[in-house]
Amino acid sequence: MTHIRTRAVHAGQQPDAASGAIATPITQSTAFAYGSLERGAAIFAGEAEGFRYGRYGNPTVAALEAKMANLEGAEAAVAFASGTAATAAVVLSLLAPGDELLFLGPLYGGTEGLLRSMGERWGLRVTDATMIGLEAAWSPATRMVWVEPLTNPSLRLHDLEAVAQIASARGAITVADNTFCTPCLVRPLAHGIDLVVHSMTKYLGGHGDATGGVVAGDAARIAQVRKTGLGHIGASLAAQESFLFLRGIKTLPLRMEAHCDGALAVAQFLEHQSAVRSVFYPGLASHPQHTLAKRQMQGGFGGMVTFELARAERAAAADVLDALQLFAQAVSLGDVDSLACHPASTTHSFVSPEVRAIAGVGEGMIRLSVGIEHPDDLVADLAQALARAGN
Ligand SMILES: Cc1ncc(COP(=O)(O)O)c(C=O)c1O
Repeated sequence: MTHIRTRAVHAGQQPDAASGAIATPITQSTAFAYGSLERGAAIFAGEAEGFRYGRYGNPTVAALEAKMANLEGAEAAVAFASGTAATAAVVLSLLAPGDELLFLGPLYGGTEGLLRSMGERWGLRVTDATMIGLEAAWSPATRMVWVEPLTNPSLRLHDLEAVAQIASARGAITVADNTFCTPCLVRPLAHGIDLVVHSMTKYLGGHGDATGGVVAGDAARIAQVRKTGLGHIGASLAAQESFLFLRGIKTLPLRMEAHCDGALAVAQFLEHQSAVRSVFYPGLASHPQHTLAKRQMQGGFGGMVTFELARAERAAAADVLDALQLFAQAVSLGDVDSLACHPASTTHSFVSPEVRAIAGVGEGMIRLSVGIEHPDDLVADLAQALARAGN
């Protein structure tokens, strides 16, 4: 199974031993019979394979974890009830009071909010190293570096190999949130990163109908994250949701190809519109990090496109967004349906004007999550919206 299309279908799953069912059954059980006292003792001691209690693990969830470990090229993975729960579990299990976490931003706002509030309450130092760089920001207390390979909403890249080199030379753990890229486009572990986090709610599920998260990496760290995140915090993913993710991931490589094709067509169209001041898409030669994108992103440049209107006002963005017919106005991303949002009034409405300026979020900015519809229809929708809005 060398090709990702094959692994997305088969990894972690085989026909059910009891029934022969090809689709992994939803195992709706919180308790699991272990048969004998000695086998129960061995399962609890971690010396025998087996399920003990729903909060710690479940066969449907385990199949999803095995599939995600395979796709990310990791020894192990652990699933959570949301991407946010996965993030919290990594930080709480691997850091201690007094430790410093450096991040390269801008991060997803929810992640930054979580890190900062946890930092205050639990005595962690959380430092934004984006402007000064990791080496200048480094301190003796630095234990973890958090990075998103492709940032939201301005679609800048961070060089994972460079990050991994700096951090591993100094003994810190590196974590990459790979939600925007998926293992189809970027495999952070292959670039030397230690742990990968996902909001599976986005491309991995792909249909906008399930919330979940996952962490993949080496077996020892994943065991720690599992113990804290599931055993102590109880942020376990339900079996039904796991079934939806298992089903969604089977078509992930096909969907990503369609997302990438559509996004490139949309970005190329927007780049030639007089009403558009700038387009951010790593697949465009005009993107300042196009060379890095070609090196780091394999097989496509993602499904997100962000652009700024020449008339950089909220009213201009509203005119365009309100005229769109195929793109729904919503903040999530990675669905088969195309979505559009105004970051300044939604995803970035809670951050300070300074942080918004650093992230490059202006009032005339629109972020698109390009779905899998035909690119010609998406381009036509944008063309009519720009024309109707008089932009
Ligand atoms: C990059 C990124 N990471 C993490 C999250 C949080 O995921 P969830 O909503 O599944 O908790 C999101 C949500 O938008 C995200 O975009």
